Amino acid sequence: MAKEIVLSGIRSTGNLHLGNYYGAVKNFVRMQDDYECYFFIADFHSLTTHPTPADLHENVKAVLSEYLGAGLDPERSTLYIQSDIPEIPELYLLLNMISYVGELERTTTFKEKVRSQPENVNAGLLTYPVLMAADILIHRANKVPVGKDQQPHLEITRKFAQRFNNMFKTEYFPLPEPFNFGKDLIKIPGLDGSGKMGKSEGNGIFLVDSPEEIRKKVMRAVTDSGPTQPNQEMVEPIRNLFYLMDVVSAPDTAAHFREKYNACEIRYGDMKKQLAEDIIKVISPIRERILDISKDNAYLKKVATIGAEKARASAAKTLSDVRRIIGFKSF
Ligand code: TRP
Repeated sequence: MAKEIVLSGIRSTGNLHLGNYYGAVKNFVRMQDDYECYFFIADFHSLTTHPTPADLHENVKAVLSEYLGAGLDPERSTLYIQSDIPEIPELYLLLNMISYVGELERTTTFKEKVRSQPENVNAGLLTYPVLMAADILIHRANKVPVGKDQQPHLEITRKFAQRFNNMFKTEYFPLPEPFNFGKDLIKIPGLDGSGKMGKSEGNGIFLVDSPEEIRKKVMRAVTDSGPTQPNQEMVEPIRNLFYLMDVVSAPDTAAHFREKYNACEIRYGDMKKQLAEDIIKVISPIRERILDISKDNAYLKKVATIGAEKARASAAKTLSDVRRIIGFKSF
């Protein structure tokens, strides 16, 4: 049986942090065995925020190095840069004709942008979901792993796929579903007391952080003044520290500090020192791979070239089918 197609678009800005790694990338790495995977860096989308030419390229390079360093495998998956695939903007043009200005204006993500950057409400922002639909439909993907913030866009993609099918009396496009990590979904908390780790929260431990930086960040984590009675319920910042330890440390390490906590003998300084070392143990080999890869331009070029070839083969097939379905014919 043919494998299901999973596709994920990767924002071309921002470094990967521990939350991205455990929440998404580790699952991407695992998915590569069970699905036909397409991973791409969404650099066209980044133009909505007007990066400088130098930043545009540096960002793509950094993100590609990080995903490769974290374990995406260009042999098993199709790993490519969106702007290397001209079929995507062509499908975007075609999909624009079946999308309505009203529904795009009503998209929550668009309304938020209008509020947050009123000085730059470009048409690319309005049609951002159309481009994303083109990204997904160009490979006729079945499943798309998306966080909560991207769900409205996946909904629109399903709408467009259905509309296209109805309009041309076909079942050409599958309706892509959100990929659910289920029990594999790990949400890494921030170390600032509450909430999750995030780039905009400013509380990230990044895959490219040096051991020194990691130690500093972990030692600054919020704690309380310690339990005053045995088996006292933990407040959120402490629960978060233990949760993180459960994720990165050996099971008996977390058990040891839980015992100390329950006996009111915990020294948070000791716990944080251990936690920092265990985070470093996870991150260091990844960091070294990222640094090596980002220096190896020939390798990055090879990855991007092979990825573009594979992605274009799939995209060209879809686009030629779509042109035929719509009614384009050559003389
Ligand atoms: N908009 C997504 C984000 O900001 C990135 C993205 C672009 C994407 N195209 C996609 C994600 C297609 C999934 C599928 O994270």
